Amino acid sequence: MIIAIDGPAAAGKGTLARALAAHFGLPHMDTGALYRQVGAALLADGLDPADPVAAEQAARTLDLTRFTDPQLRTAAVGEAASVVAAIPAVRQALFEAQRAFALQPGGAVLDGRDIGTVVCPEADVKLFVEASPEARAWRRVAELEDRGEHVSFEEMLAQVRIRDARDSGRADAPLRAAEGAHLLDTSDLSIGAAVDRARAIVEAAIRRKAAGTG
Ligand code: CDP
Repeated sequence: MIIAIDGPAAAGKGTLARALAAHFGLPHMDTGALYRQVGAALLADGLDPADPVAAEQAARTLDLTRFTDPQLRTAAVGEAASVVAAIPAVRQALFEAQRAFALQPGGAVLDGRDIGTVVCPEADVKLFVEASPEARAWRRVAELEDRGEHVSFEEMLAQVRIRDARDSGRADAPLRAAEGAHLLDTSDLSIGAAVDRARAIVEAAIRRKAAGTG
């Protein structure tokens, strides 16, 4: 069972992915953390995230054990991540690790921007998680607040819109719903309600698969 979850910044992909992975006993990869690591490495070395040579080098020498470093979740690193993510050589350098994770025996849950479209188009279930820019900005303000970073709602809304435009407008693997993806708008849903809906979608897919019709 491979579950692909895509969607824009702060739509709730990560929370849903972790909940589904725990429920169905599958390993989970937050692919945004890969791009965040590349962005963080460049910022730490005082390099420009838009520099394609430096960004590719950082992507090729990633330390995959730093996945859960809280420094990866800052607003500055998120911004740098979306800049490096527009560089095709960076995407290519990160592709194999994501593909291998998806194809491990037993399956996996991956969340990101291009899982259902590029990394794993054959996924058994594809979810495209959305929410209004305002709902996403409020969530991200609260998330950063919890980590001790203070950003105003207006500033975050502007950042969310810039990130949406960059992620959807890039030529290589732009953010869009994959063919056959189930759309899940979480704007007015609690976390529990969103997880329930996602779980129901996956369970229906499992039933179809067992019946040989999906
Ligand atoms: O947590 P948030 O939704 O803000 O972002 P993230 O999932 O951590 O991803 C950070 C950035 O990495 C995104 O803005 C994308 O530009 C990029 N990304 C991507 O291009 N492809 C992926 N599969 C995952 C992330």
